[in-house]
Amino acid sequence: MNPVISYTQYPIILAPMLGVVTPEMVAAVAEAGGLGSLPLGGLSVEASRKLIRKTRQLTSKTFAVNFFANTAPDVEKNKEATGQMLLFIQNILKKKNWAENTGFCYQFYPYQDLIDLIIEEDIRFVSFTFGVPDDECIQKLKSNGIILTGTATSVSEAVMLEKSGVDTVVAQGIEAGGHRGTFLPGALPQTGLFALVPQIADAVKIPVIASGGICDQRTMQAAFNLGAGAVQIGSYFINAEESLATDVYRNLLKRATDTATQLTRSYTGRWARGIRNNFMELIENSQLPIPDYPIQNLLTTKMRELAKQHGDAGFMNFWAGQNARYAPAKPTEAIINELIVIYKTIHAAE
Ligand SMILES: Cc1cc2nc3c(=O)[nH]c(=O)nc-3n(C[C@H](O)[C@H](O)[C@H](O)COP(=O)(O)O)c2cc1C
Repeated sequence: MNPVISYTQYPIILAPMLGVVTPEMVAAVAEAGGLGSLPLGGLSVEASRKLIRKTRQLTSKTFAVNFFANTAPDVEKNKEATGQMLLFIQNILKKKNWAENTGFCYQFYPYQDLIDLIIEEDIRFVSFTFGVPDDECIQKLKSNGIILTGTATSVSEAVMLEKSGVDTVVAQGIEAGGHRGTFLPGALPQTGLFALVPQIADAVKIPVIASGGICDQRTMQAAFNLGAGAVQIGSYFINAEESLATDVYRNLLKRATDTATQLTRSYTGRWARGIRNNFMELIENSQLPIPDYPIQNLLTTKMRELAKQHGDAGFMNFWAGQNARYAPAKPTEAIINELIVIYKTIHAAE
């Protein structure tokens, strides 16, 4: 039995998208019969509890929560790069006349802190990215009957996740918007979904969830044909009425072309796909070393907030996948229902 449909009617997952997905979106997808994913990556236990409870108030159906399974960065090793980057960003703010002290306050909420909360709140489905949680966490979640999904950007990562005991694996293609889930050292895997899904499906026994560029009948059908047991869709939901996306973000999505996005470490220190803008270019040209995630994320937070206040699209991150232009401006309920109709059409033809 495909674990995704053991709790939901349809193997369609609203991707967790930190900064975009709201409890309202998760609930709308759950109510329609899909699996909504509530993003909790990098959040405190208290903030996570509030989001889970808010979602619970909106639906009695099963939904997933998602966290970042990365470990804390070596702050000492990043000290010099952090100092240089802080000066660089402060200079940008000065030039912009955004007279604010960016400061830099290091904080890190380890995923381990979320495990008890997830169990207490009776969550049935957990997905994660950026790593493999430690054995103790995996065992604790599994012994409470929770279904686990890890994120892989290569066959080796998928195999490692399967060995760790997860129930399903997300195959995240290079098209995908947002952060790469990559966690093994070495060159960044850049495999497209067309090549990644069949190779992961051949290498593991657990069901594969295809993620990256899925937005219509053609792309969904391709994902299932390639061997996926479910699809996880992100960018297509960014423009949903209930999403946290700003008007600037929504307008950029509308104008996005096939080549509008690029992979960058500029905003957070981890590779992520977003709509290319000034800050990405400035960082590239500076050739400065970029501190590791999430130090760079913290360093750019104030700048992004100020850019948002001033409506300056050059200095905020707009995570988006290569098919983001298709994202419809509709209520989440309408978007998921259309995707379900597509799924039924594909299924009926099988
Ligand atoms: C705005 C945005 C935020 C994202 N945040 C997360 C996240 O919090 N956790 C996660 O596992 N994946 C995150 N992702 C990646 C998605 O889970 C998914 O892999 C991706 O959206 C699929 O590609 P698509 O955007 O082309 O559909 C994010 C993607 C986007 C576009």
